[in-house]
Amino acid sequence: MSDRSSKGSQQIVVRSRGMHLKIVLLLACLGLAKGVEQVRYDNYRLYKVRIDDEQHYELLNANEKTLKFNNWQEARHPGESSDIMLPPESQKAFENLLKSNNFNYSIKINNVQRLIDGQRPKLRTGHMEWTQYHTLAEIYAWLDELEARYPHIITPFTIGKSYEGRIIRGIKISHKPGNGAVFIESNIHAREWITSASITYFIDELLVPRNPAVRDIAQNVDWYIIPVLNVDGFSYSHEVERLWRKSRLPSDPTGECIGTDLNRNFDYRWMVIGASDDPCSQTYAGPFAESDPEISQLTSYINNHIPDGTIKIYISLHSYGQYLLSPWGHTAEEFPAHYPQMMGVAKGFADALIRRYGTVFTYGSSATTLYPVSGSGKEWAYGVMNITIPYTIELRDKGDFGFLLPPEDIIPVGREVTEGFVGMIAAARGIGVFDSLDLK
Ligand SMILES: *[C@@H]1O[C@H](CO)[C@@H](O)[C@H](O)[C@H]1NC(C)=O
Ligand SMILES: *[C@@H]1O[C@H](CO)[C@@H](O)[C@H](O)[C@H]1NC(C)=O
Ligand SMILES: [Zn+2]
Repeated sequence: MSDRSSKGSQQIVVRSRGMHLKIVLLLACLGLAKGVEQVRYDNYRLYKVRIDDEQHYELLNANEKTLKFNNWQEARHPGESSDIMLPPESQKAFENLLKSNNFNYSIKINNVQRLIDGQRPKLRTGHMEWTQYHTLAEIYAWLDELEARYPHIITPFTIGKSYEGRIIRGIKISHKPGNGAVFIESNIHAREWITSASITYFIDELLVPRNPAVRDIAQNVDWYIIPVLNVDGFSYSHEVERLWRKSRLPSDPTGECIGTDLNRNFDYRWMVIGASDDPCSQTYAGPFAESDPEISQLTSYINNHIPDGTIKIYISLHSYGQYLLSPWGHTAEEFPAHYPQMMGVAKGFADALIRRYGTVFTYGSSATTLYPVSGSGKEWAYGVMNITIPYTIELRDKGDFGFLLPPEDIIPVGREVTEGFVGMIAAARGIGVFDSLDLK
């Protein structure tokens, strides 16, 4: 159960009376302790660039390599914007290109490193208070505490170990037998920290419901939640490279590029579209489907340890962009048989957020709404497991901070997720998703 990322540092774990598990990290900065150099983004800027026409696309594509783009999010249609990070040395050339070709653009982050530094907690207390982002060790210490405090409601589980040997933990929250279940995997992409931060907030809500609607979904639905699926990438994003996305499995024979995009590694229509066979790509699908232990063990856990037909809804939690995306990802020409149900339930989520918080989520199939994708978790959930309601949910924001969402947003996003799930379950019940073993 020890988190390998804390290897080389010393931890003293003190159980205080009841309330919190306190962790004092003697050597707080693990990277420094191990002599690992952190990847830095001093004076890197994040630009939001509106694409007006095909010519704009072509200009950006033609300059991507020479100007060393790091694409955070790419526009799919003219009228949308791309979020592009650039190193200081190419910013002037880039801005000239934008100005001379009438791009509308703005600078969203002026110094990426300063933002990263500002989000690093000054003092690591280990308390889960959702005012800062936590390490894997802190999240796991909190799970230990929950499991000890709610033994009748929580069943801890592990799906196995990551490539680097870290345990991948989840919890099942169940108040009674016979409930339909929701399965949630979070932080499959390492840098999307808001996903584990907000889903742990949601777990806390389920255990100590603040209103009757939340109590209802806690008691009458079973929740399987893996707060951090990509444990290696997540630890790496804390210790070395804040913007790391993939796993840490080395696939490239030259050893230059590491990691699989785990959300392209599932065994359904693997590598059809929206995935790459280049090990250096951010969307590298892996050498073969389920090549990465994180995915092969997740799918075998679901297959072998959760009774057939109990999972009614499958959620893959991501950031950013504010979308609920359903299958299909591999085609925009066809829609799955349960598409109307998927959209009805997505509407339940989205409407709840608008009503309560005014936050707008867009929903639709991946291929028609955001971009084509194959081999992702939700595609597998529907295509292989026949789970009728599967989504990728992209949390806040719309690209002001992107992957570097400020910690002040954790509680608001946690509240949104909670409200969204209440609306989602209500809509799902309304069309009979939870009534029987299968919806036809
Ligand atoms: C450029 O974008 C800004 C911010 O979205 C907007 O206010 C402005 O009207 C846009 N300019 C043009 C020429 O479209
Ligand atoms: C899903 O449905 C298909 C077609 O009905 C069936 O062949 C397959 O065995 C089902 N898979 C599971 C895991 O139930
Ligand atoms: Zn993601």
